[in-house]
Amino acid sequence: MKDKINILNLYGGVGGNRKNWTNCNVVCVENDPQIAAVYRDIFPDDTVFVCDAHQFLLNNLDGFDFIWSSPPCVSHSRAKRLNIATKQSNPIYPDMKLYEEILFLKYFARCSYVVENVRPYYKCLIEPSFIIGRHFFWSNKLLLSINAEADNIKDDKKINKHGFDLSGYKGIDKRKLYRNCTSPKTAGYILSKIFGDEYVA
Ligand SMILES: C[S@@+](CC[C@H](N)C(=O)[O-])C[C@H]1O[C@@H](n2cnc3c(N)ncnc32)[C@H](O)[C@@H]1O
Repeated sequence: MKDKINILNLYGGVGGNRKNWTNCNVVCVENDPQIAAVYRDIFPDDTVFVCDAHQFLLNNLDGFDFIWSSPPCVSHSRAKRLNIATKQSNPIYPDMKLYEEILFLKYFARCSYVVENVRPYYKCLIEPSFIIGRHFFWSNKLLLSINAEADNIKDDKKINKHGFDLSGYKGIDKRKLYRNCTSPKTAGYILSKIFGDEYVA
């Protein structure tokens, strides 16, 4: 068995990206206490901090073998742009913290990293390293041209909600949590490409 790797999982949600990772110590950062509580139930061995992931990254860049970041995508998404254009929601600025993290990690990270977000409604300010389905990824390790998994990912979500059962939880927006999830398959695939199959269930 290979040594465990230390992973920083920023903007953890309920851990869609985390689900298929194994043989690792994970520190998760999620600022919504209710969502963090669900994450803790699902991954009791992970360390979970309820605080701002953007600031946490700045203060905790070292000590990890891998950093994964999933900053909120709403302000970059095509759906939001349509809602704003049709006056169904108020205008908002695209959140530049996404690009702050991409540049920060690119120039200062000493470990492997992946930042993920949706395909934006504008021409991407920094070209992604690879694209899978409707998700863009920025990384110092992988330059892939893999789009083939998109259909499977969709099926996964539709059929079994990524294998998560949130039916027992009350007072949380389950549809949003499922929608926010990164496909476990995709994130597992990415980790296996960087560290090997031993790190994916
Ligand atoms: C796109 S979702 C992440 C989904 C997660 N990677 C998954 O696969 O399940 C973004 C998450 O970040 C949380 N969040 C938003 N702003 C945050 C912040 N400043 N610090 C920490 N978490 C934040 C949201 O509550 C949400 O759960």
